[in-house]
Amino acid sequence: MQNQLQKLITTRRSIRLFKQRPVSLAAIKRAVNAGRLAPSAANLQFIEYLAVNKPKPCQKIFPLTRWAGYLYPKRMPPLGKRPTAYIIILANQKKSPNPDLRDVGAAAENIILSLLAEGIGSCWIASIDKEALRKIFKIPKIYLIDSLIACGYSDEKPKLETDSKKVKYWLDKKGRLHVPKRPLKDILHFK
Ligand SMILES: Cc1cc2nc3c(=O)[nH]c(=O)nc-3n(C[C@H](O)[C@H](O)[C@H](O)COP(=O)(O)O)c2cc1C
Repeated sequence: MQNQLQKLITTRRSIRLFKQRPVSLAAIKRAVNAGRLAPSAANLQFIEYLAVNKPKPCQKIFPLTRWAGYLYPKRMPPLGKRPTAYIIILANQKKSPNPDLRDVGAAAENIILSLLAEGIGSCWIASIDKEALRKIFKIPKIYLIDSLIACGYSDEKPKLETDSKKVKYWLDKKGRLHVPKRPLKDILHFK
């Protein structure tokens, strides 16, 4: 039997098609708060965030992102299915000149799960035009731009595939995304 958190973790999938319902600032705040409280190497807490949930800045960010590389360009979200909010993950180099990006992993997953617990889907995107993003939002040089979390209410139901040897996700004839994961028996080793 899975508890609620385990269910959330196992059913979470990256979402790349969204309904055009706005994501509230309050939900973003709760999610970033979950990121803030994640484990941090030496507790340096160098991560800061730039969040947008208004249509205009969202429209500026979308062209700077690249989606579903294995399927490119088939799973680029079309107009009317694009994210309605973004959380940009920044590393403040004043807090850590050599940021340990494992902190970002822990914080990002907390954020993603916090959003999902409120019914908000997301996709973590590292494939972004960082310099263009820096220019558009006037992000000072002291911040490294790491990645962003694109957010919105899901308009797709990707399917988990557990007995596949593949790593490349695929689309079926109906346009449903299938996401293969290596089975537990192949990755958990006992001594
Ligand atoms: C660090 C990181 C960067 C990612 N960057 C992208 C990206 O640029 N574009 C994209 O569409 N998905 C991106 N993803 C999502 C992965 O493609 C996705 O997690 C993977 O296919 C497994 O699917 P799942 O999240 O549904 O389990 C990224 C995921 C991680 C962890």
